[in-house]
Amino acid sequence: MPASQPIAVFDSGLGGLTVLRALRERLPQENYFYFADTRFLPYGDKPEVFLRERGVLIAEALARQGAKAMVIACNTATAAAAEAIRAATQLPVVALEPGVKPAAQLTKSGVVGVLATTRTLHSDRFQRLVGNHANHVRVLAQACPGLADTIEHEGADSPAVGKLLDAYIAPLAAAGADVVVLGCTHYPWVAEAIARRMPAGTVLLDTGEAVARQTERLLSAAGLLGGGHGHLTLATSGAPQQVKATIDRLFAQSMHVEHWEP
Ligand code: DGL
Repeated sequence: MPASQPIAVFDSGLGGLTVLRALRERLPQENYFYFADTRFLPYGDKPEVFLRERGVLIAEALARQGAKAMVIACNTATAAAAEAIRAATQLPVVALEPGVKPAAQLTKSGVVGVLATTRTLHSDRFQRLVGNHANHVRVLAQACPGLADTIEHEGADSPAVGKLLDAYIAPLAAAGADVVVLGCTHYPWVAEAIARRMPAGTVLLDTGEAVARQTERLLSAAGLLGGGHGHLTLATSGAPQQVKATIDRLFAQSMHVEHWEP
């Protein structure tokens, strides 16, 4: 496997671009293939078995296409499919999960808020995460149905997103949470809007940087670090034209987006 092959990064949509941003900051020389499974956005309300099968299909297609490693830049896909993906492919796989462990260490009030999709919060993996690392604090798990897809379809600054945030953040502020875990990769796009709805000094945690460090470790251990020249391919299972408008806004430049089917 030549080290110049791309690292594949995938999400249900454009949330994983927050992880890609951290990856490109830490590993700018790598080549990347970013896949947004927009045709099936949102993942957050899909059955677990569907997400598992879809995740394995995507992983196998990415491996066939020559990816040298795979980053599951989606908490929901990780919760449903990470184990099945690891079992199905030889590729080094980096998965992410909500930062409950650091949040439980950081909180002073003893109350931690977790914002994530319904599917993530209902998963065994999330229950284990809380049981293993946050038993000594109060964890308020706030499901945010509709938030990821509304961020993509209406825009992060839209009134529709503001209304959802009002509803989802108020219970965390009322309960005295001083750390809020952004347990879905779409939510860093609205981090400022979340911070505005919480008391000053509230810590917001996302996992992009930790994922980038873990990716570096894994590639290094596999002898696959470096070798690229910072090339990025953006692909979607949906209509490239529709995704492109949002991507251009996020990158602040015109980007090429191609169609890709796993
Ligand atoms: N970005 C995804 C996550 O991290 C999921 C959003 C969705 O498709 O519901 O959980």
